[in-house]
Amino acid sequence: MWHYWWALRKKFRFMNDYLIAPSILSADFARLGQEVEDVLAAGADMVHVDVMDNHYVSNLTIGPLVCRALRDHGITAPIDVHLMVRPVDDLVCRFADAGASYITFHPEASDHVDRTLQLIHDKGCRGGLVLNPATPLSVLDWTLEKLDMVLMMSVNPGFGGQAFIFETLGKLRCAREMIDRSGRTIRLEIDGGVKVENIGAIAAAGADTFVAGSAVFGSENYTGTIGKLRSEIAKAVA
Ligand code: DX5
Ligand code: ZN
Repeated sequence: MWHYWWALRKKFRFMNDYLIAPSILSADFARLGQEVEDVLAAGADMVHVDVMDNHYVSNLTIGPLVCRALRDHGITAPIDVHLMVRPVDDLVCRFADAGASYITFHPEASDHVDRTLQLIHDKGCRGGLVLNPATPLSVLDWTLEKLDMVLMMSVNPGFGGQAFIFETLGKLRCAREMIDRSGRTIRLEIDGGVKVENIGAIAAAGADTFVAGSAVFGSENYTGTIGKLRSEIAKAVA
């Protein structure tokens, strides 16, 4: 029965299944609270928070206090925390305590991936693994049942504003097949170089959650841009 439902859902994936998550990495940090309010008012579903420690990636961004500051500012939308850090576990706890909703991490950065996933769930958050462009899908073989999200990198981690790696589309299709076959509710998020021009092909390949940093925060009109992103998705999956 489950497989019939999933085959049906795959065929009729509903528009409200598709989430847009602007990455605050490209926001104006001098006005971050207002920027997040504005993109959510413009139709974004959640905010993607890129955490970089200048150790796992050669860039340094924000810590848990920024997540807490957004919650204290009154942001109630899901906060999708992408940990590009090593080690991972201590920051899992601190971001969970600061109000994170999703916490994803790179399996290469954790000594005990299963234990880190368990820690995310023990802290009351939804958990996911991040696959770099060269990370094989086999990392999902013994973890998929424990995931709420698979985050597929379409750039190499560390910076916003990079070009989409086209080969990711094939990897997305394989990941979509794995998730649909599992019969589980697991979000498939794409991250890096997502634009109005390519989001249709990305949705057609199977992504249902879309990080868009520079495409949104680099535009003049957040409502117009998010509206275009959604209409490209709708055209591609109709
Ligand atoms: C890169 C980050 C991405 C990036 C997305 O390491 O994980 O989330 O900020 O930014 P754009 O959409 O501009 O590529
Ligand atoms: Zn990210």
